[in-house]
Parts: sequence; structure tokens; C-alpha cells
Amino acid sequence: MAHLLDEQGVLHTADPRGMMALTLDFPSQYERAVAIALEWRLPALPREPRLVVVSGMGGSGIGGDYLRALFEALGNLPVLVVRDYHLPHCADDHTLLFAVSYSGNTEETLACYAEARARNAMVVAISSGGELQARAQMEGIPHLQVPSGQPPRTALGYLLLPMVVLCERWHLLPNLEQARIRTLQRLVQGRDHWGISTPYEQNPAKQLASALHGKLPLLYGSGSYRAIVATRWKGQFNENAKQHAFANTFPELNHNEILGWVGAKQQAKNFAVVALRDPDESIQTRTRIEVTRQLVGDAADWHEVWAEGESLLERLLTLTYLGDFVSLYLAYLNGVDPYTIDYIDRLKAELAKLMNRE
Ligand code: F6R
Repeated sequence: MAHLLDEQGVLHTADPRGMMALTLDFPSQYERAVAIALEWRLPALPREPRLVVVSGMGGSGIGGDYLRALFEALGNLPVLVVRDYHLPHCADDHTLLFAVSYSGNTEETLACYAEARARNAMVVAISSGGELQARAQMEGIPHLQVPSGQPPRTALGYLLLPMVVLCERWHLLPNLEQARIRTLQRLVQGRDHWGISTPYEQNPAKQLASALHGKLPLLYGSGSYRAIVATRWKGQFNENAKQHAFANTFPELNHNEILGWVGAKQQAKNFAVVALRDPDESIQTRTRIEVTRQLVGDAADWHEVWAEGESLLERLLTLTYLGDFVSLYLAYLNGVDPYTIDYIDRLKAELAKLMNRE
């Protein structure tokens, strides 16, 4: 008998609004995002940036972390990601601020945008429209418009690649063209390997989702950029599969969370660890993971997934893309529509009422 995830018509019943189609389109989105950023009229920076700040929430904020990872490995500037209403005190007129909101209407990002303007920071706004676009256009602030009409968490290509390419064009990052091309090839391979039409027996994304079904996933990044990817996986499990998942990272988790496993025998019956790994981990990290796995013992299931590719960009985005598919398959198994985000919508509506009262 066919596995549930291979059944004909599974998308029709489990994914009526087409999250799988949007996810399968990700390599094309990535390509379009690069083209948009290469064609965009690049404003000259009036001053030399000393700090890059990315302001964004949820699916729009995570791109900031990815940019930070690229700068940490390849750039010469510190990057801060602000997921709140206020910029840090140090943000000033030598700060380059990316205000990123897919809808353009997220109040925390709009607040940071206004603060950055008040401090004369160099601001670039990225959105598909909304209030952010309206304000930027009215105030003569560079605005890069990305195509609208999909949930922000499916738009990581549109929300990340423009920042990367603009930083390349300003020579704040080295030219990444080769890495970008290879990343696209890997994403296409990932799509074909993990997508809905690849049967369960050959599809590691379906297999991992089945193994995690009914469990509480603990996503353990093996340090560096894998910590960020673990956070993205967590967000996708939360928003798409409507379930809890928690993310942590080596080596930090060896200094606190590891002790949670002492009493884990009863508590962790339903836990499943997913270690997000990289082929170039240091001997210390590998040892930490091995010993942690022994300490976890049979208290919880343990799975490993490995980043692939030569460049950081390839590894970042392919590991991310695998998690996107796993989260969709989990949604199908959980019997929830991966598209809807009722609780987030409700919170935004309540907060909008506050604004209207002011
Ligand atoms: C929804 C999603 C959310 C939003 C967040 C901010 O798909 O991923 O996490 O990204 O609520 O909204 P935007 O991205 O419109 O600024």
C-alpha cells in the first residue's frame, strides 16, 4: 500500500492553498530574486557603513540571520538583526539599515524604519508593497519591491537574496556569483529529491517527517550557521505544521540543556532530536555531538541531516530547503493546512486596534 504521503490526491486534501507548489517554486523564486537585485538601480551610499542592521520579524527577519552568517564568514562589518520595535543605541548615520517586511505592514519593522530615519541611517526598504513601500516612496528612500501574493515564510528567496546581492554590489561582501549559481543547481536537485512526486522510499524529507510525526522535535544545530537553520526549521514546524519544536545549538547546549537529559527518561518519551550537521565541523564539535548522543541514549530518537555543497550559501540554503519540505509533510500528517496562520493574524489584528485607538 502506498505511504500516506505518496497517495494520489494528498495535496488536494492536505494542502488546498498550494504551499507545496510555492515550495517547489523556490529555486525559480531564488533566480528571480537575484535578477531583481542585479537590475535594481543601486543608490550610492553617502557614507561608509560601519554597521549593518536588518529589521524584520518572522519569515522576514530570518533572512537577516542568513545575511549575518554570510558577513561573519566573508565580510568585514558586524551585522545585527533586530526583531523588536527599537534599534540599538549604537545605530547611527554610519549604519546601513535593511527594513524588511514581506507585507510591508509589520509594525515592529515600521517602527525601526522610522527610528532609522530619525537617526539619519542609510535605509533600504524591502517589501512587496504595503505601508513600508508607501512611506519609502513618500520620503525618497530606496525601496526594492519583490513580487507579492504568497506567505512571507515561502518568500525567503525574495527576502534574502536582494540583501546579499546589494551588499555584493556595494563591495561589502565579495562577489558570490559562482556560489549563487551552484546554489541554484543544488536547490533544483533538492526540489527533485524532496518534492511530493518523489516516493517515500526515495525521499528523505518524507521519511524524516514520518519519523517526527507525533514527536516533539529538538533541532540541534552543530554551531555556526546551523544554529540559524535550526531556528528556521523550528519556525517552519510551528507555522506550517502547527506544532511545537525547539531549537538550540552546539556548543552552547552542552553548557545547560544537556542536563535536561538527566531527568529525561519520563519527560522526553516523545522527544526526537534532529542534529543539523556540516561536513567541516571541528573535531571538538564532532566530539561534543557524539558524547551528547551517548548521553541522550535511548531517552529520545536521534536523527541527523547534513548540509551539502562547497560554499556557505549552498549549505545554508539546501539545509533550509530540506526543512521546508519536512515541515510541509509534517503538516499533512498532522492534518492541518500549512497555509493558515490564524493566531498570528489574530495578534496582528488586536495590535492594529491599539494603533487605531491612538
Ligand atoms: C508568515 C510568516 C510570518 C511573517 C511575520 C512578519 O508566513 O512567515 O512569520 O513573516 O509575521 O510579517 P511580514 O513578513 O509581512 O513583515
